[in-house]
Amino acid sequence: MFTDQGKAMETVVTDSPERAAEFIRRGGLAAFPTETVYGLGAGIFDEKAVAGVFRAKSRPADNPLIAHVSDPRQIRSVASRITDPATKFIDAFFPGPLTVILPKSEDVPSIATAGLDTIGVRMPDCRIALEFIGFAKTPVVAPSANISGRPSPTTWKAVLEDLDGRIDCILRGDATRVGLESTVVDCSGIKPTVLRAGGISVEELIKIVPETRMATNGSARVRSPGSMHTHYTPSARVVLIAYPSELERCRAAGFIGLDIPGAEPELAQVCGSVEEYAFHLFDFFRKCDRRGIKTIYCQQVDETGLGVALMDRLRRAAAAS
Ligand code: TXA
Ligand code: MG
Repeated sequence: MFTDQGKAMETVVTDSPERAAEFIRRGGLAAFPTETVYGLGAGIFDEKAVAGVFRAKSRPADNPLIAHVSDPRQIRSVASRITDPATKFIDAFFPGPLTVILPKSEDVPSIATAGLDTIGVRMPDCRIALEFIGFAKTPVVAPSANISGRPSPTTWKAVLEDLDGRIDCILRGDATRVGLESTVVDCSGIKPTVLRAGGISVEELIKIVPETRMATNGSARVRSPGSMHTHYTPSARVVLIAYPSELERCRAAGFIGLDIPGAEPELAQVCGSVEEYAFHLFDFFRKCDRRGIKTIYCQQVDETGLGVALMDRLRRAAAAS
């Protein structure tokens, strides 16, 4: 965001949740860590601040934002009704990497939900995020704190790289534990529908509400406008591979995956598990971009547990590049 004089604004970096929350209370924008990725926060009832979030990220206006709460009791201030499946998911997974979609309260400005009559709500499993939202004294809308289309930020430095001079504040925390965004499950209808795979697996959701299903591609597109837009893309070309041992030439390339590649890449991240892979992925994309790497080879993983979300991000990154 820019000041009235057209100059970039100063972005304050702080370790204090209270100081960062003060910017929210004054109508500003503050990025903060969660367990999934860093978010770019604004007070949900402050229409001007919410508009500022879209501007700072160059986010298309048709992509709705998620409301973040520090206490499940705050959900009532943003949702008009908490449906039965949502209650079950909230009891089982809040705080945690799950967003439930509910009918929206009239008090929430429609710009926050891109005109939809539903709203996504989540309570992050991250102490510093909960303190920040608590001090803000309001639910906080927050998309991932990247320029739209870029890989989501998993470190405060990645936020600075994208948004320095465009937002008021960055609350500095550790690298985010999960590294991929929350699972988004629509609980506004009869059967819960997963619109975005994420930190809570579909298997875990089905254990709580057996009727839960994955959205088909078309329906996710209609119900979750965000899924239509380009995402998670480094500047480098992303190529998915099954067997890294068969890589013969990958000089001047990057590699990330679970097995050791056959050829020696310029930059490699061999991960011990799917969880570790998810943790490193977006940061690795950014590292490759900084090094000017042209191609990133990414090993495919089995689509179970967190592997579903990881493959979703890898496919989108590959499709967009
Ligand atoms: O882990 C996360 O969810 C992170 C952290 C910061 O909490 N946030 C995040 O926000 O990933 P964002 O804006 O990058 O992605 C939100 C996704 C989008 O795909 C959006 O379309 C979908 O959630 N979404 C939000 N509200 C919705 C609604 N009312 N109906 C359907 N989809 C919704
Ligand atoms: Mg995002």
